Parts: sequence; structure tokens; C-alpha cells
Amino acid sequence: MAQTRPAAAPAPNDLESYWLPFTPNRSFKRAPRFVVRAKDMHYYTADNRPVLDGTAGLWCSNAGHSRDPIVAAITRAAEQLDYAPPFQFAHPAAFELAGRIAALTPADLNRVFFCNSGSEAVDTALKIALAYHNVRGEGGRTRLIGRERGYHGVGFGGISVGGIVNNRKFFGSLLSGVDHLPATYSREHQAFTKGEPQWGAHLADDLERIVALHDASTIAAVIVEPMAGSTGVLPPPQGYLQRLRAICDRHGILLIFDEVITGFGRLGCAFAAERYGVVPDMIAFAKGVTSGAVPMGGVIACDGIYEAFMRGPEHVIELFHGYTYSAHPLACAAGLATLDVYRDEKLFARAKALEPHFAEAAMRLKDFPGVLDIRTVGLAAGIELASRAGTPGLRAYQAMERAFEEQGLMIRVAGETIALSPPLIVSEAQIDEIFDKVGRVIKAVA
Ligand SMILES: Cc1ncc(COP(=O)(O)O)c(C=O)c1O
Repeated sequence: MAQTRPAAAPAPNDLESYWLPFTPNRSFKRAPRFVVRAKDMHYYTADNRPVLDGTAGLWCSNAGHSRDPIVAAITRAAEQLDYAPPFQFAHPAAFELAGRIAALTPADLNRVFFCNSGSEAVDTALKIALAYHNVRGEGGRTRLIGRERGYHGVGFGGISVGGIVNNRKFFGSLLSGVDHLPATYSREHQAFTKGEPQWGAHLADDLERIVALHDASTIAAVIVEPMAGSTGVLPPPQGYLQRLRAICDRHGILLIFDEVITGFGRLGCAFAAERYGVVPDMIAFAKGVTSGAVPMGGVIACDGIYEAFMRGPEHVIELFHGYTYSAHPLACAAGLATLDVYRDEKLFARAKALEPHFAEAAMRLKDFPGVLDIRTVGLAAGIELASRAGTPGLRAYQAMERAFEEQGLMIRVAGETIALSPPLIVSEAQIDEIFDKVGRVIKAVA
């Protein structure tokens, strides 16, 4: 039964209390991987062993770690304004950051709603989509369309439109009225492609089938990751996103890009929307907006969506949605300083310039034992390994453990795929170091 500790007792020096997210807790606690500080491209362990960051933390530390201007901005903000309520009140940095983000987006994506994570950003975008149709008198548009293998965080909205079975199957009936496009990946047609594969644009046409099944008048929005990251780095087939956009336009369906990973430079542009020349109606963002230094997420909506809400009596709240920590002063300060670093160091252009070298380095592992496929786009790579019989995922998991312990390298695994996404400040030599180390690890787990 529950036992309480006396309030004055010292904090326990053990690993029991913390229930780690998306982690096999018992294995971790048997052999924990701790980092205690970070600077630029490296984490450091308690015994001061450097660990090269091959993953920008969790796809978020795009400017590198503990960067001086960002640290200074957060410190200043904590001293000056620790918190301001975002309902009915505001502080200047929230407006400044919203304007700076809007300036990075194409076309009329000008209205920024803040929250604290990618999951909240996705649920916010889905709710705005439903409410948008409602306030326009098309309240029958309630269906949401996601995609198989999609990852949109862990809120009920996000797991409902998401398409990763383990993130869904334990959690009941999820949202009703959700349908899914097919995943865009085919190893047969796409293996070892650098950048966007040629095969697969036609998979967008499945949206027409879904429209024929349900009728467009019942469909509110389609949400996709322009590049699916968490399911193992799946770049979009050439022309796929353009086709989705055209079908959405034909049927009055909103198109939402989940750019939680692709936003802020990962693909060599501020947003994937720019790389692909496709303008969605909303972009969900998080992670890179503060380079991971303070939690923050948000939704960028086009003018038309915002304006549709600005019609009733002026004293009435237009959108009944928001979070206690929306536009938190520390997050806004971190965001502004991060955007300065991206601009001053031209990090998005740097990612673009490094893309060919990164792709070449990744493809050098093509003939390594057990490698089934390598996919690259921008500064992201997925290296898919063959599963060992009866233990799916174990090989890649062991690769991650060995990379950390033996090679001083942080990598991520998604199923049997090793995912690499270093901070955008990575050098060519560090890219080579990352893939050399990954190669050694792949051999070790062969
Ligand atoms: C595309 C995408 N959407 C949403 C999320 C969820 O973000 P968070 O973990 O901040 O809730 C992620 C996280 O990796 C993501 O990759």
C-alpha cells in the first residue's frame, strides 16, 4: 500500500520513483544512461565522458546545446517576468515571437497560437479545424484524416489520427470519425533513395477514395507529417504533397502539416512547406522553436482561418481553447533567442548545404550487415535493420545502447530503424564521425 515519506526526509537516491516515458523502465534502471550536462554538439556523462549528439536531443536541439545567447535570454526572462497569464492578459515577447515565426512561413500563414509541446500543437490544430468549419456553418465536417505510420504525439487527437499501432491499441476507442491514408513507404520501390523517392505520389489519390466513402461534407481536415520522422524517417514521394493539396482544395478540406520535426531547419528550410512549395492551411510546430531549451509548441494558421473566428460580438471569446503555459515568458525568450541564432548563423542554409555530404555519409553503410534500407532528407537519416527472429526492435535497441556506452554517440531508434538528426551546427567531420560510429555499432549487433 501507499507509504508516505516524512516531509523532511532526504530525496531518495535511487531510480524507483521516476516512471520514464517511452522507455523500457526495468532495462533502463538495470543499466541507466545518464547525461548531466551538454554544450554545442555534445552531451557529457557524470564522469565527463563526451557523447556526440546524433539526434539533436529528441529532434529538437537544432541550434546545439546550452547556447550562450539562449541561456542568457532565459535567465533574463526568469528574473524579469517569471510568468504571465495568457488568458485575458499578455506580455510583449509573445507578440514579438509570433511575428518572427509568421515571418518564416510562406503565404498567409500569419496567425500563431502557442502551447507547450508537439502533442498539444496537434490537438490544437485539430480542434481549430473542427471549430473553423463549425463557425462557418459547416459543422457537419467532423471527420479527421491521418495516415498510417503517422506520429502526431500522444494526446487523444494525435494518437487517433496517428498510425503507429502500439501508440493506439492500449488506449480504448480513441476519437470517432477518423480515417487514414496509406503510408507512403515501399521498400521495393524506394530502397536507398537520397531525398524524396520518385515512386509514391499516387498514394495521395487515396484521399479521393476516402472522400467518395464519407463525402467531403463530413471531412474537416487531413493531417500529415511532410516527412514522417518518428516512424523511421520517410521522406515524401516527389509530388505527393502537391497532390494532397490539390485534392483538399477540390473538396474544401483543410490541410495540416505537422512540422514538429521538420520545422526550424531540419530539411534545410524554415519549414518543409517551403522545401516542397506546398502551403498548408495550418502548421503544427514545437521542438526546434526553442531548440528544446524550454518546452513550447504552437499552431500557425492562415489568415482565413483566424478571420473566420473574428466575427461574433467583440467581448466574447472566439476560441475556447488554450493552456496555462501558452506563450510562457521563458519559452518566448528562448524562442526569440533561438530564432536569432538560426538567423545569425544561417543554420537553415547550413543544413541545406550539408545535405549532400550527410546523405553520402549515410549511404556508405549500405552494404553493412543487416541493413535493409537507408533513407535521407535534409539532416535526417533512417537506417533500417533486419529484425532478429522473434525479437523485433531488439537489434536497433542494442545498437542504441552500444552507441552510447562504447562509441560515445547518442542515436535514436524507432522500431528497427536507427534515426539520425544532429543539431544543425554539426560539422562535416562530425557527420563522418557519427556515421563511422554507427557503422561500428551495426557491425557489433550483426
Ligand atoms: C511529427 C510529430 N508530431 C508531434 C510530436 C509530439 O511532440 P511532443 O513530444 O512535444 O508532444 C512529435 C514528437 O516527436 C512529432 O515528431
